[in-house]
Amino acid sequence: MAIYVSGGIKGGVGKTTLATNLAILLTAKGRDVLLVDADDQETASDFTMVRNETMSDLGGAGYTAVKLHGAAIRNDTLRLATKYDDVVIDVGGRDSAGQRAALSIADIYAIPFLPASFDVWTLEKVSQLIQEARPFNSKLVTVCFLNRADARGQDNEEAVAIARDIDGLTYIDAPLGNRKAFRAAASQGLSVTELKPADPKATAEINALVQRLIEACAISSRSQSDASMASV
Ligand SMILES: Nc1ncnc2c1ncn2[C@@H]1O[C@H](COP(=O)(O)OP(=O)(O)O)[C@@H](O)[C@H]1O
Ligand SMILES: [Mg+2]
Repeated sequence: MAIYVSGGIKGGVGKTTLATNLAILLTAKGRDVLLVDADDQETASDFTMVRNETMSDLGGAGYTAVKLHGAAIRNDTLRLATKYDDVVIDVGGRDSAGQRAALSIADIYAIPFLPASFDVWTLEKVSQLIQEARPFNSKLVTVCFLNRADARGQDNEEAVAIARDIDGLTYIDAPLGNRKAFRAAASQGLSVTELKPADPKATAEINALVQRLIEACAISSRSQSDASMASV
């Protein structure tokens, strides 16, 4: 079982896009997935409502979605997590009790950032939040990735160079391009891999990113067992 958090303290960068696509791709791999909507704006829940309609002939969304607030984001998620193969938490874009609660139970905390330097600066602030959480969460693996990458490279490279330099955050080289398909899929309650007509580039990008996050989980569980070995 893994708890993935689509995190960060900035809005509009792709947290819900990652959370919903990840939930669907894990489900497609045969995992029983719980999607926790921890954002007061409830975008992931709205998405799931649309998805339930789109998929009504196929038995609905395929994953279970719940809305949680405040301390319940930690307590209820931990209780529910034992009943699922994977949990994906979508948080709101600010430094809130919910963001910290999610960080305290995450195996993988993945932060999207955009190719603009003012956006990357907020990663510095997240880095502090992460450092505060780490003593209480030994399995925490924190990564960031470029979302809505420009077709032209310069802005991407500058943002990535800054992201690579941030303490306690691993940059993963699996960017998502700025593609209409991500928006079109979201509006229909679909993952970008389910969209028709298909966008092969978007599909390849999200598959690569999800693969990297799954691999990061293996690192997280290793660090957990190392920690428990050390405490023996
Ligand atoms: N790679 C992408 N290409 C194009 N549009 C995107 C991409 N990622 C996200 N979007 C769009 O950007 C908007 C904000 O994304 P969202 O995932 O809701 O961000 P957040 O949850 O961080 O606020 C949405 O309309 C979404 O469809
Ligand atoms: Mg969101």
